[in-house]
Amino acid sequence: MATSLHPNLTVVKSRAFDTLFTKIRDVETNSGDFVHYSKRAMRLLAEEAAAHLPTSPQAVTTPTNAIYNGHLSILDTNPDGVCAVSIVRAGDSLLECVREIAPSVRVGKMWIQRNESSADKEAVHSCTKLPKGVKDMHVLLLDPMLATGGSACAALSTLIKEYDVAEENIVFANVISCPEGLEFVAQHYPRIKIVTCWIDDCLNEDKYIMPGLGDYGDRFFNTV
Ligand code: PRP
Ligand code: URA
Ligand code: MG
Repeated sequence: MATSLHPNLTVVKSRAFDTLFTKIRDVETNSGDFVHYSKRAMRLLAEEAAAHLPTSPQAVTTPTNAIYNGHLSILDTNPDGVCAVSIVRAGDSLLECVREIAPSVRVGKMWIQRNESSADKEAVHSCTKLPKGVKDMHVLLLDPMLATGGSACAALSTLIKEYDVAEENIVFANVISCPEGLEFVAQHYPRIKIVTCWIDDCLNEDKYIMPGLGDYGDRFFNTV
């Protein structure tokens, strides 16, 4: 069922997510523990997203003198060719995990906030800072939450229409998505790749993901 929501959707399979998400979804989990457990989950997501960037074949010899025919991600072979773009603020949490596995990845930021006092919670995009030459890079777009899809589509519109990044060169890494957000992105940007840890059930009347975990940015940055 999952893959019909967007043509290039991967739901990361890891038994660890059940235990980690039990902690981060729990309203009783304090901010310190939220950071601890969410970063454990996001580290797995970052590795999976890296493997969805272009890879090249690499044969290596093992200590047992055998050949292993593997692959390497462009994030490891040419980090200058990848720009990790954080949708600020919550995206910065995932950026921390990406920079743990690729310290010299290029970084871009987009300040996009939902207007929480409006009925549709539309995304307000106020600031963008991207590296020169981003149009020739692969982009790892980072936001833990995909709810209505408004924030992700605002970022994608800027990358593709203003900065000429090829839609096919974008991997969107996300912790929790929902059918509404995935379908909205599919309508506008069917050629990006989406890597998500979990597809939740739906949005509630306030456009929060259900069961979800509340406001990710507030819980991660202790501003609840
Ligand atoms: C949250 C989240 C996403 C967005 C998802 O950001 O981090 O960016 O909402 O919702 P959408 O798909 O309906 O646009 P928020 O605006 O709360 O800002 P924050 O990261 O500073 O908490
Ligand atoms: N942003 C969040 O942080 N959580 C939601 O459920 C929806 C948007
Ligand atoms: Mg928020």
